[in-house]
Amino acid sequence: MDGDNQLTTATFYTPVQNSILQVETRMRDVTNGHHPDLGAALEHLLSSGGKRVRPAVALLTGAMLGADNEKIISLAASIELLHTATLVHDDLIDGALLRRGFPTLNAQWTPGATVLTGDFIFACAAKLAAQTDSVELMHLFAETLATIVNGEITQMFPRQDDGYYDEYLKRIYAKTGSLFVLATTAPAILSSIRESTFDTAQRFGYGIGMAFQITDDVLDFTGKQSSVGKPVASDLRQGLVTLPTIYYREKNPDDQNLDIILCGKNIKNENLNQLVGAIQSSGAIERSMNKARQFVNQALEALDELPLTAERRALEDLANYIVDRRI
Ligand code: IPE
Ligand code: IPE
Ligand code: MG
Ligand code: MG
Repeated sequence: MDGDNQLTTATFYTPVQNSILQVETRMRDVTNGHHPDLGAALEHLLSSGGKRVRPAVALLTGAMLGADNEKIISLAASIELLHTATLVHDDLIDGALLRRGFPTLNAQWTPGATVLTGDFIFACAAKLAAQTDSVELMHLFAETLATIVNGEITQMFPRQDDGYYDEYLKRIYAKTGSLFVLATTAPAILSSIRESTFDTAQRFGYGIGMAFQITDDVLDFTGKQSSVGKPVASDLRQGLVTLPTIYYREKNPDDQNLDIILCGKNIKNENLNQLVGAIQSSGAIERSMNKARQFVNQALEALDELPLTAERRALEDLANYIVDRRI
């Protein structure tokens, strides 16, 4: 099955199909009425086919917890725009030229215009979050954005005080896990059963968020460019150490090619390909996916404590999809 089919047949969208369409409209409405180039850039981003996993998580969690549907739609749109803005800046930082198989903004525009577009999308995300009328939620939104930026800057200026593995877990929580936690705890804030569900919703969001980034890091090694939408081994090429590389290093501490990467030196293409091949065949990929599955299992344990509804069943499918996906 190719990646696109895998997504369109995913069953977890079914209970929130109509709401997802409203999320699409709300994201476009909030961004209307500005400079035509901003509108065009945003349309390019929104129509390029993201998976909409985070809005699906927010919508399903909100419905499971009985939160107000209108507010949950604004929240889900806000979270997807926050995600979109972080990708605009992430691609600029990484110098990535392709995303979802399409040219990135920074491939076509100056860095200045790209930064401003990202800022504009952040502002639109905040405006949508404010439509929930919850100061507590706005507080969480701002905290999450600060945490994401912290994760991205840690990735730029890595410190290995905690060792590679612990540093990796902290970093992926900050850059990715935290947004999934927002997608599960913000609906709890908007629900009348908040007291008894907030902590459990947080554990669920944490588990799927961590599993999501580990899977993304594995797909960077194993995915096809045609489905993932970006070149294979982009992370390692930029000197970015992710879980497969950390596990590989444990078993192969003397690999010369790895040393070059860890010292931040330029590596020849031939040596990089050699290292990618060695990592792929070392068992490190399987071990990483086992770790991702562990996080999904923790998420599923938390989910078991939440109200048993059709949306909870869909969230179970979604949690499993996170580790089974190819895009
Ligand atoms: C990509 O997220 C960035 C990560 C946090 C790994 P997604 O894989 O959800 O990206 P889209 O929105 O579906 O393209
Ligand atoms: C992106 O993570 C996370 C944020 C933008 C905060 P990645 O850097 O792993 O995402 P990809 O691999 O570029 O999609
Ligand atoms: Mg990136
Ligand atoms: Mg990645």
